[in-house]
Parts: sequence; structure tokens; C-alpha cells
Amino acid sequence: MSVAKSEPLWQRRLKNIKTNVDTIRFATDHDLAQNQEWCEVIFKNGTRRRYLFHNYAEVYRTPGLYEKLFYERLRCSSPSRTVRLLEELVHDFELPMEGLRVLDVGAGNGMVGDELRVRRVRTIVGVDIIPEAKEATNRDRPGVYNEYFVTDLTDLPEHLEKRLREYNFNCLTTVAALGFGDIPPAAFIKALDLIETPGWVAFTIKEDFLHERDSSGFSKLIRYLNKNELMQVQAYRRYRHRYSMTGKPLYYVIMVARKLRDVPDQLFPDVLDLR
Ligand SMILES: C[S@@+](CC[C@H](N)C(=O)[O-])C[C@H]1O[C@@H](n2cnc3c(N)ncnc32)[C@H](O)[C@@H]1O
Repeated sequence: MSVAKSEPLWQRRLKNIKTNVDTIRFATDHDLAQNQEWCEVIFKNGTRRRYLFHNYAEVYRTPGLYEKLFYERLRCSSPSRTVRLLEELVHDFELPMEGLRVLDVGAGNGMVGDELRVRRVRTIVGVDIIPEAKEATNRDRPGVYNEYFVTDLTDLPEHLEKRLREYNFNCLTTVAALGFGDIPPAAFIKALDLIETPGWVAFTIKEDFLHERDSSGFSKLIRYLNKNELMQVQAYRRYRHRYSMTGKPLYYVIMVARKLRDVPDQLFPDVLDLR
């Protein structure tokens, strides 16, 4: 599959997913926090079921629901936007996309891997904390990742770390997966440590998590990484990640950065004080 200008990749993929999802209904009469949003799904056989948006395991288990909910209805654009911005910078550096060896953390059902693969990236390894993400990737986007590991980067078994390091990754991607009790700062630091120096780092984060008052630890961590020249931001792009179920735009930031220095050992215990 090549990069088409008109039809988004997720839409082309959805055509080949056998889904029983018929209608998605939102409770639009009240504003819920982003991680508390839910919907009712009506299936083609008439049965109904509620889904909490952030219960990814349940969403992935239902073929086509992730795409229909977040992409078709809520107009999520994060994987394609992030990979496009990364591609632009890689080209600015006069480097080929084929030369990237990517670790995609919080890989989910493979949307980011898919965007990378159509841009000719040859080595893409996925990591997610739930087995349903890997199962959905194998079901709906087989072959997109060279390997896919279900693991917790804050407690990475030694043998797995060895396997991951053998890839000599030179690019980390993590899209729509930081904050909200998903990937914590400590896991992000571990992922960064698995990338060669110099290397690329492309991630998205809700703009609230970059405010001084943020309590997730990411605002402090990103400032630390910049101030100590571990990371140099090449592109900072505010964009609409998706709409909320009541139709409000949810703004995130894409950062594409160069990893300039190895992660110092003392950053690991330090991160515990980031909150
Ligand atoms: C909104 S999904 C994004 C998936 C994919 N990156 C995309 O853009 O479609 C967030 C993903 O992060 C994963 N996740 C949450 N906590 C994680 C952790 N600590 N380590 C790895 N993955 C995690 C979830 O299981 C989920 O698949």
C-alpha cells in the first residue's frame, strides 16, 4: 500500500475489517472528562453495549470499533499527522525514511506502525501493555510490525530489554498514549533509553500535560530533557487530536525532537520525584 493523498489510511483499512458495529451513540447532554467518556454501541444484530473510551482492551476486542469511534466519529488524526511531521524533518536532515528503526510505544492496534510502513520504514517494533492491542494488530494490520511485545517498560524483563536493544532503534514514536494513567514518565524515559544517540523522538501529548501546573510529571520531564540538552525539539505543532463526544476540539501537541545525549542513570530514580 502506498501513501494516498485523498483517502486516509485508517479508512482504507476499515474497509477490510469485518465489523459488527452498526451505530455509535454518545450521551451528548453532559461534559465528561476525556478519560471518562463512554458510548453505547448498537451492533448489526440489534444488541447494545456500553464502552468506556479508555477501556482499550474492550475497544480493541471489537473489530472496527477503534476506527469507527475515534477516527470516523471523533475525527482523530494523530498517527498520520505525527508520522507526516516526522517524515518532513527526516527529509530536512536529508535522511531516508528507510533508515529509521522505530520503537513504537503504546502501539495499540497498529495505526502508527501502518503510517510508518507505507512510508517505507523497514524496521518497526511495537510495545503495548495490554495483550488485546497486539491481538488487534495481528487481526487487522498483520505484518505491520517486525515484532510486537506486550510488556510494561517500567518493569522490563532483562531478556526482553536485550531483545529490544538488538534492534539498535534510532527512532521512538509514542502517539496518543502519554498521560491519563497510560504511559507514565518512567516508561517514557526507559523508551528513550532504548534509542540510540543521536536519534529521533516523535510523540504527542495533550497540551494540558505541558502546563506548569501539570501533575502527570510530563511537563517537568520535558523541560528537564530540553534544559539538559538530552533532547532538542525540532518541531512543535499544536493541533486538534480529536473531538470530544460533545463536539469540543481536544488540543494536543506533536513534538519531533532529536535525542542528543544518553539518558543518565540518575534520571531513573529522579523521575520518581517528578510528580
Ligand atoms: C489511545 S491508544 C493509542 C494507540 C496508538 N498509538 C494510536 O495512535 O492509535 C493508547 C495506547 O497506549 C497503551 N498504553 C497505556 N499504558 C501503557 C504503558 N504503560 N505502556 C505501554 N502502552 C501503554 C494502551 O494500551 C493503548 O493501546
